[in-house]
Amino acid sequence: MTDLPLRRLRDPAHEAGKPTFRSRVPRHAVSGLLALALALGLGAGCQIGPAIQSESAVRTAPLAVAGVSPPPDAQGVATNAALLVAFTTPLDDAAFARVQLAIEGVEARLSRGGRSVILWPTKHMTPLTSYTVTLRVTGPDGLDPGFVRQWTFRTGDAPIASPAHEVPAADGQSLLFRYPYIQSHFPNTVTVVWATSTPGRPAVQVRPEGLDAWLTLPARSESFPSTLTGLRASFFQHQGFLDGLDAGALYRYQLLHDDQLMATGVPLKTLGAQDTDAVRFVAFGDSGTNGPEPRALRDAILSHHGDGTPRYPHDFVVGLGDLAYYNGTYTDFNNNFFDQLSGKKDQGHGRQSLLASRPFIAVLGNHDYGKSATKIPHAFLSSFVNPVAAGAPSSDAERYYSFDSGDAHFVVLDTMKFDDPLVPGRQEMLAWLERDLAATKRKWRIAFFHHAIFAHGEHGAGDDFRQVRAMRQRLAPILQRHGVQLAIFGHDHLYERSKRLRVDSAGRIVRDSNCAVAESPRGVVYLVAGIGGGELYTRQVNSDPCGTPGYRRAVRDYGDGYDFVAMRDGEPIIYDGSDQPPRKPAVRYGFVHAVVTSARLSVTAYNIDGEVLDTFELTE
Ligand SMILES: [Fe+2]
Repeated sequence: MTDLPLRRLRDPAHEAGKPTFRSRVPRHAVSGLLALALALGLGAGCQIGPAIQSESAVRTAPLAVAGVSPPPDAQGVATNAALLVAFTTPLDDAAFARVQLAIEGVEARLSRGGRSVILWPTKHMTPLTSYTVTLRVTGPDGLDPGFVRQWTFRTGDAPIASPAHEVPAADGQSLLFRYPYIQSHFPNTVTVVWATSTPGRPAVQVRPEGLDAWLTLPARSESFPSTLTGLRASFFQHQGFLDGLDAGALYRYQLLHDDQLMATGVPLKTLGAQDTDAVRFVAFGDSGTNGPEPRALRDAILSHHGDGTPRYPHDFVVGLGDLAYYNGTYTDFNNNFFDQLSGKKDQGHGRQSLLASRPFIAVLGNHDYGKSATKIPHAFLSSFVNPVAAGAPSSDAERYYSFDSGDAHFVVLDTMKFDDPLVPGRQEMLAWLERDLAATKRKWRIAFFHHAIFAHGEHGAGDDFRQVRAMRQRLAPILQRHGVQLAIFGHDHLYERSKRLRVDSAGRIVRDSNCAVAESPRGVVYLVAGIGGGELYTRQVNSDPCGTPGYRRAVRDYGDGYDFVAMRDGEPIIYDGSDQPPRKPAVRYGFVHAVVTSARLSVTAYNIDGEVLDTFELTE
């Protein structure tokens, strides 16, 4: 240990006799990492004390080298600064681990989280002063594979300048093969992913909004040789895992590559927890083209009002499949997804990135599978970091999953299992879906998938009735049985909304004695939003179907005619490639914007000019 002078701290919480801090350490805090970062001025010379128990419990990671503290406040202590401690433990999340942090032997009341990142405001500390910090982790019985670590650090003495940029800096652009994108399905964790054209030593720096110090965490790297990807050159993908974040909170992050800044001060917001007021998202399908449409869509979603507030505030973005035409290769994903939606193709700075500041929720489409003979969507699976569905076959990992935010439960499905007989595991996915939906207590249940189960494009109402029928027979009853209120999908390149439908056990739409489809208060709204960039389809709709042979055949074979579409002002709510002003707003391209509160689910569809195509609200 160091012999630097010690200074005992006064801790108000400790003096007030508050209970010892107790934390639950999640299992998903992976890969033994122990980092102590001193947000303020830290210092150099950190020393690790002896491991009292399991030496293998943790490994050390580099210290953050941050700047220096702001000037002292009126009490003569540093302000606007924090001590950050990050660690992981092998303790199972079924057990409550006991985490204690002491500064100068005085137990510190932890100000934030209490998971694997601990943030301790340094307002009680003095600039340019050395402190000893002890971190002790034990299991609930005081034994277990716990550990103790001790460090000494010295606070700094000058403020850190605010970052000048909010996105990839010019210096790093030449090396950035992919601009950063956010993967997250949990309020407290985020994975930042990016790629470079050269190998190196990558790291992510993160800080809460408003703090001046960065916590530096090393990132994992994986090389993608050209022989694997078919690209002209190899690239290197990096993942920085951030844990212990606050729910629904603002952060900033930046990327380092061999100590060179690759992106600076990128804003980030975590997903909201269950008690969050509102969850907002945007969704669109079939965006994976190489043309200007996805960029126009991106810019529309990111647009602001005159006062600077966002037109479409959102907490995450959903890509409803067919993210990368035509074959979902690495080249397709680079050119038609990442470069398009991150702003890299614009030769720019990346400020217009739809991927860098909010989680992107990836859904598998048929084009993302491409022509893979093995039916493994390699580029999709290696690019995105999705949860693993409990009990699903390992070969299906990250292809379908669920997550929660606010009072909503979201499920993401891989509907290629209905489309291609060579894609196995439909039964296993549906069994998982039953279990998953049965377990949720959240009021709102929303499903995202790719294929058009109820729609009037060339897929939903054309020649694809084999898979459409299978989805109606097998999937629709499960969604209905478990109270799913809304299913959003693409594949058909148009916008369309159904009435709240109920189906019978064979997946046929329930009709009244007049063969009419009524709005069912507890039915499912099926919404097609395949308007993200692919060329628009023309509806396959008979405007007066009753009595026509096609209608009778459809009713006989599939239980529906063409009359399940919701109506507005006497018109079916379908926007397709045939719609032109002034009869309707030209749909061109667009997206869905949803706001979910405990009281209501509000959905509005916009075209890229901001014109409202459709709006509706559910309250139960
Ligand atoms: Fe598709």
